Amino acid sequence: MKIIETATAFRQEWANVNESAKLSLGLVPTMGFLHEGHTSLVKKSVSQNDVTAATIFINPTQFGENEDYEDYPRDMRSDLEILDHEGVDLVFVPSLDEMYPEGFETFIDVGSVASRLEGEYRPGHFRGVATVVCKLLSICRPDRAYFGQKDAQQCAVITALNKDLSLGSEIIVGDTVRSADGLALSSRNAYLSNRERGKALSISRGLFAARELWQSGEKAAEKLKSVVVDEILTGDPDISVQIDYVSVSDRSSFIEVGLVEDSGNAIILVAAEVGTTRLIDNVLLV
Ligand code: PAJ
Repeated sequence: MKIIETATAFRQEWANVNESAKLSLGLVPTMGFLHEGHTSLVKKSVSQNDVTAATIFINPTQFGENEDYEDYPRDMRSDLEILDHEGVDLVFVPSLDEMYPEGFETFIDVGSVASRLEGEYRPGHFRGVATVVCKLLSICRPDRAYFGQKDAQQCAVITALNKDLSLGSEIIVGDTVRSADGLALSSRNAYLSNRERGKALSISRGLFAARELWQSGEKAAEKLKSVVVDEILTGDPDISVQIDYVSVSDRSSFIEVGLVEDSGNAIILVAAEVGTTRLIDNVLLV
């Protein structure tokens, strides 16, 4: 009889005993309407694991009351074609009832990293994200699970969730994929008219300008933020933009920083509504 004291050791031991557990599994959770941001994560998983699974589930518990759950873009046929083409082996497409059967009432109580920024502007959002991701990791038990830097705070919440609840997957963060003009790819970009899309480009332009300013020696967060704000507020005056926040934060705790040192581990984050579409983006200052 073996006595095991850590979760990692227990899983390793069980994998050693259980011959069929020798194949590694990578998991890419998504809400569908797939684009190259999603497929970059799939490619990473395919290259790093024996088997890759993707999930498509529009998770109602992470949407606020006045958000776009009902209208969230979907195209299951195209999504399945894309995943097949990318070499995905398994696709998990649960029904609402499969994920939230009648009587469901257990949620993840997320920590302080989820209270700021997105957490402040979208109350309950990370509780819903953490709950569904916890379920997906528990169902699929991947060796590695893949998430995008585009949703930086989501990555931090999931990394903490995985660690705090000993879920046992390795959380891997893939770089933000952008279109050639700089706009971060997002399923929600489908809501933008041409002119709104033009205006939305000011978000990444502002972030890149602030990063350049930091690289050339400016350390004051206020200065870096004002470059982003100025960029967003100029341009097409007929398209409305409402900035929820521009923040220079520590990239792990998401606490605001005043000065960004050379190895600052900081991140500049933006959330803004262009027309009626809420977009988020960020760049790392590392
Ligand atoms: P969704 O918005 O479909 O995104 C699925 C994954 O793709 C997330 O990890 C997200 O960060 C990543 N992603 C989106 N756009 C990206 C881009 N431009 N570059 C790189 N990665 C990108 O995020 C969710 O779904 C949900 O919250 C989910 C984690 C599935 C839980 O419901």
